[in-house]
Amino acid sequence: MKSTARVRIVALSTCVCATIFGVGAGGIGSLAAGTEPPSATTWDRIASVLQHPRCMNCHQLETPLQGDTRRVHIPPVRRGADNMGVGTMRCHNCHNDSGNNAMSGVPGAPHWQLAPTSMLWEGLSTTELCRMLKNPELNGHRSPQALIEHMETEKLVLWGWNPGRHREPIPISHQNFVDLMKVWVSGGTVCPQ
Ligand code: HEC
Ligand code: HEC
Repeated sequence: MKSTARVRIVALSTCVCATIFGVGAGGIGSLAAGTEPPSATTWDRIASVLQHPRCMNCHQLETPLQGDTRRVHIPPVRRGADNMGVGTMRCHNCHNDSGNNAMSGVPGAPHWQLAPTSMLWEGLSTTELCRMLKNPELNGHRSPQALIEHMETEKLVLWGWNPGRHREPIPISHQNFVDLMKVWVSGGTVCPQ
């Protein structure tokens, strides 16, 4: 009896402890309490941004997707040799360098185009995405530091936080996202197993 009670107390305190740390699970500060390598847990949160429709809709194979429901792009467009469309359906004909068009609802940012095929993210697990992102052969020969900079300053990335009407922005703040990238990089760009 006595030992069962003790087990219960231990179990209870472990549970309380987990709850306390669990509350902080949304923040970087709580990573120290985790049992996984910090870089890998951080990765899951980074991946949730990369897999958001605002990013994923462009990191496609042949045609971009549209909206939060991720329907095929209307009107139909294709990648073409330079990732900027074919014939009269060139991305820049509709997607303006000066930003989102409030009147028409067409989103815009400088050099709007499909991500290169080496950066196809659709259908990847978070682990595969992690390995792909840090592979210089596939990521545009970017060092981990250059990946942070891309996330910090690239206009197509920043657009995800200001996507114009009817589109959900990336749910965590941009600063929070960049901080997560820094934690992941300083922890050695660890990918989940
Ligand atoms: C309008 C299309 C478009 C959108 C939207 C977009 N990207 Fe990209 N992305 C690109 C293009 C084009 C490149 C290639 C640019 C280069 O290599 O210089 C790219 C490259 C990248 C890279 C370089 C490394 C790699 O392996 O892919 C990262 C990282 C990236 N994008 C992150 C994001 C994130 C994060 C978002 C969402 C917040 C996003 N992108 C949204 C088009 C887009
Ligand atoms: C003839 C005009 C036209 C052309 C050409 C065009 N688009 Fe679009 N695109 C649109 C319109 C309109 C929308 C907005 C649809 C909506 O949200 O209802 C859109 C939306 C998008 C979105 C959705 C963003 C999001 O997350 O919701 C992406 C990505 C996109 N276009 C990429 C491209 C790419 C890449 C090209 C070139 C290969 C291209 N578009 C060419 C008209 C065009």
